[in-house]
Amino acid sequence: MRKAVLVYLAAKPTRRQAPFSLPWMYKLHRQIFGEVWRWAGKRRCSELNLGVPVHQIDIELQTMLDNLAYWHENADMNLLEQSARLHHRAVSIHPFLNGNGRWSRLLSNIWLRLNGHPITVWPEEHVGSTSVIRDTYLSAIRAADFGDFTALLALHRRYTSTSGDSRINNAIL
Ligand SMILES: Nc1ncnc2c1ncn2[C@@H]1O[C@H](COP(=O)(O)OP(=O)(O)OP(=O)(O)O)[C@@H](O)[C@H]1O
Ligand SMILES: [Mg+2]
Repeated sequence: MRKAVLVYLAAKPTRRQAPFSLPWMYKLHRQIFGEVWRWAGKRRCSELNLGVPVHQIDIELQTMLDNLAYWHENADMNLLEQSARLHHRAVSIHPFLNGNGRWSRLLSNIWLRLNGHPITVWPEEHVGSTSVIRDTYLSAIRAADFGDFTALLALHRRYTSTSGDSRINNAIL
């Protein structure tokens, strides 16, 4: 996991390293969790009560990438909002059995890094386990489910790193 973070966030990645394509997003999950789960990088095969139906996963992921490119090129949307929306959409599609949260947070940070924006440094011990911040985080994700990105955007903004970053390891947690 640490390795994947360093590969993509230690220096600005190239478009070749981070092409924001469908196969690359799966590869990213494998790079993060390859040493933890044998199935890392593979889409789930069963339905969950969260996420889109299995047969829709790739379609929705591709739409997400198309939207992202559109927001970036044509729409007047700032990078932090692009990244918050990417984060939310990726985790709501829920392509994997596990690790969707960490994968989506790294994905959105790679987008920021690629575009020269400071990354969001998530407070590790808080987002990943039970805590007030965790609850705030989850309720922000839920509000975004209903189209209200205010809270999620505020969290991204609150944790935007200001300096060149020593806390880079918290970029997904
Ligand atoms: N209503 C919801 N809509 C969209 N996403 C949700 C919702 N509830 C929870 N989630 C997301 O699902 C994630 C958990 O998914 P998963 O366990 O696959 O990822 P993780 O990386 O293991 O977890 P974590 O995000 O806790 O580090 C949560 O982080 C949250 O972002
Ligand atoms: Mg999990």
